[in-house]
This record gives sequence, structure tokens and C-alpha cells, in this order.
Amino acid sequence: MSKKNDILLTNAKIVSMKENPQGYQISEPCNIYIQDGVIKTITADTSVQCSNQYDCGGKLVTPGFIDSHTHLIFAGSRAHEFEMRLNGIPYQEIAKNGGGILSTVRATRNASEDELVSLALPRLDGLIRSGVTTVEVKSGYGLTLDDEVKMLKAAKKLEESRRIRVSTTLLAAHTVPPEFQGQSDKYVDLICEEIIPYVSQEKLADSVDVFCESIGFNLAQTERVFLCAKENGLAIKGHTEQLSNLGGTALTAKLGGRSVDHIEYLDLDGVLELQKYGTVATLLPGAFYFLRESQLPPIELLRQHNIPIAVASDLNPGTSPFSDLTMIMNMGCTLFGLTPEETLRGVTNNAAKALGVNHSRGQLSEGFDADIAIWNVTHPAEFSYFQGESRLHARLVVGELEHVE
Ligand code: NIG
Ligand code: FE
Repeated sequence: MSKKNDILLTNAKIVSMKENPQGYQISEPCNIYIQDGVIKTITADTSVQCSNQYDCGGKLVTPGFIDSHTHLIFAGSRAHEFEMRLNGIPYQEIAKNGGGILSTVRATRNASEDELVSLALPRLDGLIRSGVTTVEVKSGYGLTLDDEVKMLKAAKKLEESRRIRVSTTLLAAHTVPPEFQGQSDKYVDLICEEIIPYVSQEKLADSVDVFCESIGFNLAQTERVFLCAKENGLAIKGHTEQLSNLGGTALTAKLGGRSVDHIEYLDLDGVLELQKYGTVATLLPGAFYFLRESQLPPIELLRQHNIPIAVASDLNPGTSPFSDLTMIMNMGCTLFGLTPEETLRGVTNNAAKALGVNHSRGQLSEGFDADIAIWNVTHPAEFSYFQGESRLHARLVVGELEHVE
């Protein structure tokens, strides 16, 4: 990594998002000294000097937000399917008839890597305006070795055009592609024998995800993909219990998964497995809202068992066409009854846990990466409250400052 200039942020009111039984706190104005992209000291002592200073003017300063579950790379639109659903045709039925994920697969296969990057940038800009400094991006609309690789490369390329940190996830097991219809096990063979080994060898992804669902992959297939991922040195995470309860959550937890995502249909047994293995529960209120679902995730059980809760956009063309993470936080509060503090934790340190980067991101602490957002808000509950205007004033990604306003 190139040598970063030192910088001193002054007059910052910090919401550090360190674990704190008293809940989130706003600090007195203090100074953050950053060296080589890392927070060296956070102090009220104003005698610390640096030739490169930035006055935060008493604004609220948080860790840069982490969107830990997106499908940011895709081509095409599914507006017509949105219309079909509102005319009474369910998501599952559209999917069974070659629409849904497969319609985005057709458009994505026809797009070049550079086209995918250009299409993703406006969406990424929306996330950035809502405070995001790290974004997870899944493949899953290619479903051949070449097309999955194209998606993962496009995702990584976003780092060349914007100050952003991208974590990539292989989601070849998103749905069975048309050329394998009726032969899903054969497609799982391709994933395990060719796609995962190649992606691992070329270091194109950090983790492997599976859509464990009746319209995705069954439990035995999910287990095969996860075991193969682990053998190839990749982390695992799952789309589980979104539309029904297949037991994907317990499986993902037992195998050491970083997170289970959606989980509307999760029951107590599943929650106990999350507790046992320390797995993060990632809630995706955008998909719940857009699919007009009514089955709520078991929020109270998650709380009772101290399961770390992440909140993410699930940005995708079919079930969550939303490029604004604070709006998703608002939905987490209004639809799921999360508190504004839970949603903020869900996009900072718990999101960092979901990506396995909580040792260096997701809180403002000495020794952590200087991924920081500086805001025009006076209280952290405001992130989940007023929507529609960007309140981001400036941001730092690995210590590099970017003024936004
Ligand atoms: O997270 N659940 C599966 N995958 C996506 C939907 C993708 C799509 O419909 O294109 C999700 O909701
Ligand atoms: Fe998803």
C-alpha cells in the first residue's frame, strides 16, 4: 500500500461504535491523529500537531459505514417484474418461469466487464453518499466460470474509480442456470470442481455464498459448496431462511460461516446455533419491503441471545433496488423495530464482523483503519430518521480525505 500522508482531524465529536453497555455515546470535541491510513491516537489533548490538519468543526464523526451484503454488479432492469408482482404474480412464480434472477443473468452475461463497472458506479455513488467506505459485492448473475469471474473482476475494479474498499463474494450458487435445468447437482459439480478452485487460486473472492432455498439450492447442495469453499481457503456466508425454513442457517453456523442473511423464517433452534457459533445475523429490510413480505425476522430472539445483528442494503435489481444505506437503516427501524443504535451498529462493527474485518474496521479506535465519515447531523439517531438528502460532509478511506459537500 502506498505511503499515506499523516493527517490530524480536529474538533471531532466522535461516535466510536466501540462495544458499550451504556449504548452509543457522543464524545466531547477531540482530535484524531492518522498515520499511514491508521488511527494512531484519539485525544482531547490539543497539543498534538500535524502540518496537515482538517477541522471537523464540531461535526459528528463515525466509522465509515460498511454495506456487508450487496449484488451491486448487474446489467438490465426488472421494473417489468415489479409491475407483474403488483398485478398478482408471486416472486417465486416469476423465478420458476425463467424470470427473476435468470432474467438478470441473461443481461449480465451479455455485458462486458467494463460495462458492468459503468452500470454499477451510479449505484455505488448512492451508497458512498450514505456514508459507505466498505462494500461487499457478490457475483451470482453470471453462473459460468467466465461470467462469474467477469463479475468479480468488475467489482474489484470499482476501487480504481472511487475511494472505496470492496470485499468480493462468489455466489455461483445463486440459482441453477438454464443450461443445467433439471440437473442442479451437475451444476454444483461445476461450482465445486472448477469455479471455486479457480476463484480461490486467482484470489478473486474472500468468501462463498449460497442461496439455500426451494428456488435456489437444497441443504445437501449447500453443504457441498460450503465444504468445498473451506477446502479452498475461502470464508462462507449464506442466504438462508428468506422464503421458508430449510435449516440453512444452522448449517452455515455449524460450518463456521461469518453471517446468515435474510433469516425471516428463522426459529429458536436456528437462533441457538447462531449463539453457539458466534455467527452474525444480517437483516435485509429492503428485500422484505420490496417483496411486501409479512414474516418478520425473529428480532426479539436475536436480542435475547445476544446475536450480533448487521443491517445491509442487499442492493439488487429484483428484490432490493435501493442504493442508499441510511434509507435501509430507516426501514430496519420502521419495519423490523430495530432501534437507531442497532441499525448504526448493524452498518459499523457488526457489519465488519459479517465480513471478517472487525479487527481493523467498523469502529473508531486506536489501531483501526482510518475509514471515517464526517456528518452534518447532531445525533446518531438521525441516520435512521430523516431521508432523501445526503448529510455526509466528508469521508476518509484508509486515511485519504475526500470532501463531499
Ligand atoms: O438477496 N435471495 C436471493 N438473492 C437476492 C435476490 C436476487 C434477485 O432477485 O435478483 C436477494 O434477495
Ligand atoms: Fe442477497
